[in-house]
Amino acid sequence: MNNILTELEARRDVARLGGGQGRIDAQHAKGKLTARERVDLLLDEGSFEEFDMFKAHRCVDFGMADQKYSGDGVITGWGTINGRMVYLYSQDFTVFGGSLSETHAEKICKIMDMAMQNGAPVIGLSDSGGARIQEGVASLAGYAEVFQRNIMASGVVPQISVIMGPCAGGAVYSPAITDFIFMVKGSSYMFVTGPDVVKTVTNEIVTAEELGGAITHTKKSSVADGAFENDVEALTEVRRLFDFLPLSNREKPPVRPFFDEPSRIEASLDTLIPANPNQPYDMKELITKIADEGDFYETQEDFAKNILTGFVRMEGTTIGVVANQPMFLAGCLDIDASRKAARFVRFCDAFEIPILTLVDVPGFLPGTSQEYGGVIKHGAKLLFAYGEATVPKVTVITRKAYGGAYDVMASKHLREILTMHGQRLKLL
Ligand code: HXC
Repeated sequence: MNNILTELEARRDVARLGGGQGRIDAQHAKGKLTARERVDLLLDEGSFEEFDMFKAHRCVDFGMADQKYSGDGVITGWGTINGRMVYLYSQDFTVFGGSLSETHAEKICKIMDMAMQNGAPVIGLSDSGGARIQEGVASLAGYAEVFQRNIMASGVVPQISVIMGPCAGGAVYSPAITDFIFMVKGSSYMFVTGPDVVKTVTNEIVTAEELGGAITHTKKSSVADGAFENDVEALTEVRRLFDFLPLSNREKPPVRPFFDEPSRIEASLDTLIPANPNQPYDMKELITKIADEGDFYETQEDFAKNILTGFVRMEGTTIGVVANQPMFLAGCLDIDASRKAARFVRFCDAFEIPILTLVDVPGFLPGTSQEYGGVIKHGAKLLFAYGEATVPKVTVITRKAYGGAYDVMASKHLREILTMHGQRLKLL
């Protein structure tokens, strides 16, 4: 019996080394953590239960029968974040560049199925060269199986993607379907076709960083919801976001202990809004002043800055906040702001998170670029999102609400409660 246990532990040690110490060192040299180190940082200490640690690929082509690694390039399982359950996978770049094989996909699908059955979020840590070249269409089939589960899980359990290395080709569509994407500056990138293909087809010369780095996707494309300096910061912030979210659409958002007096009067709000109606003020200041302990988890901070979206807590309960920001474009609605806010409102509605809307809007941004870009349909997305949302909605008009934007910004006609002053609001 002792021999068997010793043998098992020896095999575990080998599995823990992934593609070997040399490749682990190479990963560290790039400023990246290994897949296991990331899992350890993300989860509560000692909470990780790993599945399929010894699963290996079944490919026999291209000499692959002789190259097998326990775990096949992805670590999967469940654990807890501040005591709450989460399923996760973490791609191991040291094994075939974290590329996705048939068995690698099976491992991811297994934990996604369990997450849906048991009602817990899924977090995916991506660091992968894409489809396992040696497996051809079997790998593509694996992707499709993962995509289908992303679709089925949407609105059922929160899904979070953290891009911590390459994520290219069709591989990008799994994170794209999830609720939040975070990236690490300098070491992660996402694109459908890489710089070489871009140059061949369009003659454009662009670096991987410019084409699909964290700055590009948080500032220009809005594909990513946040960019962080390094792996440690990214994982710490994911833990912070996780604390705001319910485990599934069958559960209420978590209620955290709070140390903020609910009836607190915030006198500075009386003077926050300037007497001159054309003078801007910082809506973020208002949000942090009404939030429990001033804690505002902002999403898409660097994109469409004329609208703010994110989570706060009131009396310990999660509230989604949408707010016009007079500091940028006078807080008007445009294509980008409408898309950003609509997606956020739909997320809150799916997971029973009440929505507080702070309105100071001069209207929709005029111009040919907006009309040609389809502002009509994009603006309608926000209107639709608010109109179909059945969660509690409270709207505070802090200064003005003009034109069509009055209707769109959670007007009382779209099923909600209206108050005209900035006092702290009791929502539940
Ligand atoms: C098998 C792969 C691999 C892949 C990397 N490796 N990508 N093995 N399939 N897709 C292996 C390498 O051979 C190498 O093995 C190790 O991983 C590390 O790779 P390096 O190239 O040394 O690392 P780096 O210089 O950091 O470059 C990383 C990379 C590059 C940019 C990702 O490896 C690369 O371009 N890989 C191919 C990417 C690709 O074409 N993927 C398919 C995309 S299409 P050794 O043994 O030397 O350590 C796709 C379609 C999905 O994904 C469609 C879904 C619908």
